[in-house]
Amino acid sequence: MMKKLLIYYSLSGNGDAVAAYLADRGFDVRKVEPMNQPPKKFFAQILRCGFNAGRKHCEPLRDFDPDVSAYDEIVIGSPVWNGRLSCPVNTVLRDADLSGKRVTFVLYSGSGGASKAEKQIRGRIPNAAILHLREPKKNPETLDRLSSL
Ligand SMILES: Cc1cc2nc3c(=O)[nH]c(=O)nc-3n(C[C@H](O)[C@H](O)[C@H](O)COP(=O)(O)O)c2cc1C
Repeated sequence: MMKKLLIYYSLSGNGDAVAAYLADRGFDVRKVEPMNQPPKKFFAQILRCGFNAGRKHCEPLRDFDPDVSAYDEIVIGSPVWNGRLSCPVNTVLRDADLSGKRVTFVLYSGSGGASKAEKQIRGRIPNAAILHLREPKKNPETLDRLSSL
């Protein structure tokens, strides 16, 4: 049986909805937590996290185990920040050795597109599949797009 792992970040619960769905379907799950929590207020989050995502900052993580050697299939979940990958997920991509794995990204955002995030992904893992969900916590029917994973 193929071993499947979801590594993801979630600040406001959309990634957690993805995690619950995939855990039900046999995925092991690692949620990453930043060493320092983002600001509480949305406006301050947009300023700090959005700015840091724009400069592709790798946020230091608490107790992240980057060893994925036991898995054949890896799904990486990230919110879209300022059109890009979130800073905690930048650290995952820096530290985990994904070579030779089947990799799918699940992006969650407030809108449809995230061409800059997709470009970041293609630059690192050219053959990764990318799925994009719009606010899956509020729109749980969109989670069925993950049923093929
Ligand atoms: C700092 C920050 C920046 C964001 N930037 C974008 C963006 O550029 N485009 C977009 O569609 N949504 C953006 N959003 C909305 C989130 O991507 C969206 O709410 C996502 O589902 C959050 O996932 P989470 O609840 O797992 O953290 C942003 C949210 C935050 C906090």
